Amino acid sequence: MRIDIVTIFPAMIEHALRAGIVGRAIERGTLQIAARDLREFTTDRHRVVDDVPYGGGPGMVLKPEPLFRAIEAIEREQGSRSHVVLTSPQGTPLTQNVGERLSRLPHLLVLCGRYEGVDERVRARVDEEISIGDYVLSGGELAALVIADVVARFIPGVVGDDQSVAADSFSRGLLDFPQYTRPADYRGMKVPDVLLSGNHAEIEQWRWRKSIEQTLLRRPDLIEAHEVSPDQRLEMEKILQDIDQRRAE
Ligand code: ADE
Repeated sequence: MRIDIVTIFPAMIEHALRAGIVGRAIERGTLQIAARDLREFTTDRHRVVDDVPYGGGPGMVLKPEPLFRAIEAIEREQGSRSHVVLTSPQGTPLTQNVGERLSRLPHLLVLCGRYEGVDERVRARVDEEISIGDYVLSGGELAALVIADVVARFIPGVVGDDQSVAADSFSRGLLDFPQYTRPADYRGMKVPDVLLSGNHAEIEQWRWRKSIEQTLLRRPDLIEAHEVSPDQRLEMEKILQDIDQRRAE
């Protein structure tokens, strides 16, 4: 898969992509991600990418021409239409499912918006707008990096062990269970006995319970969408009662 990120700050994207799991995957050629300087797609001597808004008001708006030219030039390189995403706080919220869907595309073109605005006519040319959360960033670069990271993790071979993506907390629809490493006793804080027991069935059961408990406590909205067996449903009721009891105490 290839992801092109169109931005006025290509160095910000390039720098961030060198590190970690995604950086290594790019080095190996498992996926390609390129930062593309929006100014390269201007035609004037001063390489201007923004202008004052019609009707007045503060801030600058990204001009349509460089963005349209960027999309067209990149699609020409690819030899086909790209799936074009615009980062925007007005967009569809990014979720694990959205990331998975985008990872199945051969080519993704991400346009980094600016918080002051993007000329409305660009919206007609994009396939979707994506938001990474209900807050305002100064630009789409951080959002584009988040999207690229989420998408990259679904590409086979990016995350070493394919299993771990399926087991990622949001892929299971639940929050993570607690993890511990050595020492077994740190300043009197002990690792739960079950994890030292070597009993894999019990460990699995404990982890499931902890995941459910964390999710019920912190993100009950996720539980409604989570599928459980009738046995697990009963178990969940018990966990819920325990939580209520602890809250009442
Ligand atoms: N640009 C500014 N804020 C954003 C957000 N929350 N998500 C995506 N793009 C943005």
